[in-house]
This record gives sequence, structure tokens and C-alpha cells, in this order.
Amino acid sequence: MMSCVTMSRKNLQQTFWIFLFLVLLVVLWVFNDLQGGPEFLYLGPNLSLLFLNETISPIKGTRHLQVSAYLDERKGKGTVRIITMFYRPGPHDLQCIFNCNNGVLFTSPAQVEQHSDNFGFPFVTADVFCETSYRCKATHVGLQTQGSVQNNDSLMPIQNLQQRNNGFERDLTVCISNLFGDYNNVLQFIQTMEVYKILGIGRVVIYNTSSSHMLEKVLHYYVNEDMLEVIPWPISNFLNPSRGWRFEEHGGDIHYFGQLTTLNDCIYRNMYKSRFLLLNDIDEIIAPYQHTNLNLMMDELEKKQPDTGVFLVENHIYPFNVFDDSGRFNLSLWRQVPGINIMEHIHREPDRKHIVNPTKIIVNPRKVEQTSVHSVLKRFGNEYRVPFDVCRIVHVRVPLQGHLSKEELIVDTKLWEYHKELVPRVNKVIGESGILR
Ligand SMILES: *[C@@H]1O[C@H](CO)[C@@H](O)[C@H](O)[C@H]1NC(C)=O
Ligand SMILES: *[C@@H]1O[C@H](CO)[C@@H](O)[C@H](O)[C@H]1NC(C)=O
Ligand SMILES: *[C@@H]1O[C@H](CO)[C@@H](O)[C@H](O)[C@H]1NC(C)=O
Ligand SMILES: *[C@@H]1O[C@H](CO)[C@@H](O)[C@H](O)[C@H]1NC(C)=O
Repeated sequence: MMSCVTMSRKNLQQTFWIFLFLVLLVVLWVFNDLQGGPEFLYLGPNLSLLFLNETISPIKGTRHLQVSAYLDERKGKGTVRIITMFYRPGPHDLQCIFNCNNGVLFTSPAQVEQHSDNFGFPFVTADVFCETSYRCKATHVGLQTQGSVQNNDSLMPIQNLQQRNNGFERDLTVCISNLFGDYNNVLQFIQTMEVYKILGIGRVVIYNTSSSHMLEKVLHYYVNEDMLEVIPWPISNFLNPSRGWRFEEHGGDIHYFGQLTTLNDCIYRNMYKSRFLLLNDIDEIIAPYQHTNLNLMMDELEKKQPDTGVFLVENHIYPFNVFDDSGRFNLSLWRQVPGINIMEHIHREPDRKHIVNPTKIIVNPRKVEQTSVHSVLKRFGNEYRVPFDVCRIVHVRVPLQGHLSKEELIVDTKLWEYHKELVPRVNKVIGESGILR
């Protein structure tokens, strides 16, 4: 008798717990739905989406701009990172729309993470994270404001679906953030590209807003040679980009033509293509001072600093208005090409007391999450400042310490070491690109 009563009581208790569990499930499901939680949808006759390949496209109903989407399994199995130029006032509530490979759509809430350096501009680089479902083999993704999927919502292809951590297409790639303002420093451009090749760089990636007619010819020459990849960057069609780096001083919508967005995009675009990326400007040459090329230098640095994904390299200024005395590279062919002749500028400004030299970066892109110009914002491994005598940047430009006399500058003929290879190569490009015709 006793045992029978206990049994039925136990049963009752069990039923109660199962009931409570089911109620909880329903509550969670309804709550999730109200929150705009994950959901599968079918494309109907009244609903069509746009599949875009543009590098910049508006997110409908907002001022935000979407740039590119990458699978980022470092953040989770089905996590897609969308790189955006985000309008800081908002809206902040966004939804992800995935196109699954079976024609079904899947929507889920988006997580927005703005990068920390906005320099006061209304637009900032932001990563928008989207989670896909294991049941959706997503090929494209887009963003929308909360609500239902709308006609003509535009989706971007998801890149980096295939990931490889070895067998890279190349060891070293340079990311040049932007070309803009009818850039016409043609001679320095050609010389720099040829020095890069001598140093072992396999490809240069440039985000192109506008350039001069003559430089266009040079760009086409290098694209045909497969040394250069030009990514269209028509930012002026969407924003009033700033030519400066500080909103208070320069105005405009976004820092320096969206430089930070392009640098971040370049990291993800080349994450599984290149062993290392060099993030520098087109007038900067990251030069090894103890190795014959950058590959050998990186081999050694990687061995000595095994858990390091970020290598900081000091920038040094070689004023473009101070010439070497010999005139040995004052060549008549080169004088016909507009721009700075870097081989004539071998005088380096000394370090200043109390001023730390700014750096540019060499990264293992697989260990970087967010980058800025002179440093990395979020990374997985360590950071290492490469000693000045191992590697430094040769940067021929307007002086920073213009008051110094020639005698107060330091003679540094690093680039002259490459002259035997460099001079004929530069002459060949001047001839074959057709710029003087
Ligand atoms: C986008 O690229 C894909 C594959 O490269 C191509 O099939 C498609 O037509 C392109 N779409 C547009 C709108 O250009
Ligand atoms: C969608 O785009 C097509 C052409 O691209 C246009 O004709 C149509 O009006 C658009 N529909 C909506 C709802 O914006
Ligand atoms: C660079 O962008 C300009 C402006 O859109 C365009 O006219 C030019 O063809 C582009 N150059 C290359 C090499 O793609
Ligand atoms: C280079 O040579 C030209 C022609 O001889 C001369 O006019 C010019 O001053 C020289 N430049 C320098 C920096 O010496």
C-alpha cells in the first residue's frame, strides 16, 4: 500500500516537471520570435533579392554601408563577419538575411561591434556578426532593419568559405589602403613597386577611388602582370569622405577615405591567400637591414617569436627636398616622369627625443581580428616591435623636421643596394606602360 502511493506521487511529480519544461519551451520560443530570432523563410513570387558584387552598397532604410562578408570560424562555427561603414547614431538593431544553398532564406539577429577608433567622424568601421544555422549552407548574406525581408534587399557573397592554413598563394602581400585625389606620383609608384618585387613581395592590393590618367596606365600594366589587384572603392558616391584623420580639424563623414575599413577588408580578403600582410602606404618601403629579402626576415622573426601575429616596424622619414650630392641617379628618362625619385633621397631624419616613431605593421592575418593604421586593435597572438637595425620603413616624403640642415641628417643608402636590378626594371616599366607616349 505505502509503496503504491509513493509511486503515483513520483509519477505526478514527473508529469509536473515535464509539463513545466514544455511550458518553458513555448515561452522561450515565443520570446525568441518576438525578438526576431532565427527563422527560415521561403522566397515567394513577390519577393526577390539582389545579389551584389559591389564593394560598397547601402543597407536599405539606413545610412550604413555594407562592404564585404567573411566566414570567421575563429569566432564560432557558423559566424559570418560583415565589414561595414556604420553610421554611429544608428539604427543599431539589424537583422541578418542568409541565402542558403537550397534557395531558402534564414534570418537571425545581428550583433554590431564598432571599432574603437572613429576619430570623431559620424561613420566608423564596424563588424556586424551574423550566425547561420547548421541547416543553412549559406552562400550570401545581407543586413536589414528589424522587420520582414523586403524586396530588393541586397546580399553579398560570403567569402573565406574554404579555409586553408598552409599552401598559401603567396608569402607576402602589401595592402595599400587608398589611392585618391588624382594621385600622380608616378615615378615613386613605379620605383616602389619594383623595390617590393626585389624584396620578395608577391602582390600589392590597392583600393582605388581615383587616380591620374598617367598612373592609370601604370596600374593597368601591373594588373596585367598579376602583381597588382585593384579593388574598386567608389566611396565618394556614398559619403563625403574626409581627406584628414580628425573630424574636428578636417570635417567629412569618415576618416581618410575609409582607410580603416579598407585595411580591415584587406586582412580578411587575403587571410587564407597570403602568409603575411604588410599594411603600409604606397610611399613607404618596409626594408630589411640584415636579410637579403623580407621572406628570409619573416622566416627568422617567426621562428624567434613563435606566438606572434603582429610585427611593428618603425617609420623613418627621408625628406624629398634633400638630394644626394653625387647625382648618380638623376637619370634623364626618369626626369620625364612626374613624381619623386626615391633614389636621390638618402638622408634620414634622426630620432627625436620624447617622440616615439610611429609604426606600420606586418601581420599574420589569421591572428588579427581588427586593425588600425599604426597598431592592431584586436588580435589573438602576441605583438612584437621589430628592432630598428633589423627592419625599418624608408619613407620619402615632406620632411617632419624641416629645420634640420643636411649635415644634421643621417646618410642611409639602403635603397642603393638594389640599383643594379632596380634601374633596368624601372626603365622597362616606363617604356612598356606607355606613359611617355
Ligand atoms: C556577381 O558575381 C557572380 C560570380 O562572379 C556572377 O555570376 C554574377 O552575375 C555577378 N552579379 C552581378 C550583379 O554582377
Ligand atoms: C527592385 O528593383 C527593380 C530593378 O532593379 C525595380 O524595378 C523595382 O522597382 C524594385 N522594387 C522595389 C520594391 O524597390
Ligand atoms: C580607378 O577608379 C577610377 C574611378 O572610378 C576608374 O575610372 C579607374 O578605371 C580605376 N582604375 C583601375 C585600374 O581600375
Ligand atoms: C638633375 O639633372 C638636371 C639636368 O642636368 C639638372 O637640371 C638638375 O638640377 C639635376 N637635379 C639635381 C637634384 O641635381
